[in-house]
Amino acid sequence: MNSAGEPLTHSGRDDVRIMTLQAHILEEQAHQPLAGGTFSWILSALSISAKIIADKVRRARLENVLGSIGTENIQGEVQQKLDVIANEVLLRTLGGREGVAIVASEENEEPVILRDDRHGIPRYCVLFDPLDGSSNLDVCGGVGTIFSILAHDGRAQRAEDSLLQAGARQVAAGYVLYGSSTVFVLTLGRGVDMFVLDPSVGAFMRVERNLRIPSGNKTYSVNEGNRRSFPDGYKRYLDWAQDNGYSSRYAGAMVADVHRILLKGGVFLYPPTSKSPQGKLRLMYEANPMAMLVEQAGGKTMAGPGQRIMDIQPTAIHQRTPVVLGATDQVDAVLAHLASA
Ligand code: AHG
Ligand code: MN
Ligand code: MN
Repeated sequence: MNSAGEPLTHSGRDDVRIMTLQAHILEEQAHQPLAGGTFSWILSALSISAKIIADKVRRARLENVLGSIGTENIQGEVQQKLDVIANEVLLRTLGGREGVAIVASEENEEPVILRDDRHGIPRYCVLFDPLDGSSNLDVCGGVGTIFSILAHDGRAQRAEDSLLQAGARQVAAGYVLYGSSTVFVLTLGRGVDMFVLDPSVGAFMRVERNLRIPSGNKTYSVNEGNRRSFPDGYKRYLDWAQDNGYSSRYAGAMVADVHRILLKGGVFLYPPTSKSPQGKLRLMYEANPMAMLVEQAGGKTMAGPGQRIMDIQPTAIHQRTPVVLGATDQVDAVLAHLASA
């Protein structure tokens, strides 16, 4: 019974139902044109990876201290940086799933082609940034994992060409934020749902359905240290924002910044700079999955005036793109300044 005296199992109300990520995926399967069980196994690999990486992140400092006598651990293995470890975890969990054709990681020069028989079951490509914002680890700041899933195109000439699909063709995207709690945010193209890891149960529990980005939040998120080398339109926007009572929030990890924007509104920018004329962020591992989540939550995501991020036709898996994303009203305010002479 809940506090209103209703039986928990029959009310159907979200606030009284206990729903794990696993159960959510099974429930969603019925509404998806995706390859049922195959696809669920991929998401379960991502969920397990998230739990393993969350544990490694929590223990990072302790293990550094314990292992600090040399650079090798007790088995004689060289101690690795956590982004290499996170990458290994994802490659190993996804590698065992029949439904995964190709994995591509920000940490690997080349994609890994796992299965390319072309006539078997429908398969998927999984692209990821294993540890986003890893410099925050040293200071106990938020870090994350970002992933994007595409249907494998068996007709592509070379298997790896099947990765070069515009973001609009993603079938799922999400991120895990390893912050004060571990949060898994997922879209399967029918809205955005949020789960929090309950460490005592060992499962991600659904805490929000169909997240919508609030409008009217006067907050921008950008590395203002680069301001001098931004194109003029971005400088005009920042002048305007500062004249109009905006606040600045920048975590140094896209996952943490986008998470705040999904829950509270505002805008995130990574403009072109003289050092990185295409911006710093990667289209396939960072911009596209975040764009799908933000648009599914009612927001807007652009690479510049007239260029929606998810319409960019990729030509290389590691290519970069400028990013403006967030609540539609706040992105429009940026675009208005980019367009003005
Ligand atoms: P990564 O740690 O995967 O390389 O990504 C860091 C990214 C992103 O998370 C963040 O928004 C941005 O780089 C921060 O870059 P600056 O330090 O240039 O602001
Ligand atoms: Mn990153
Ligand atoms: Mn990274």
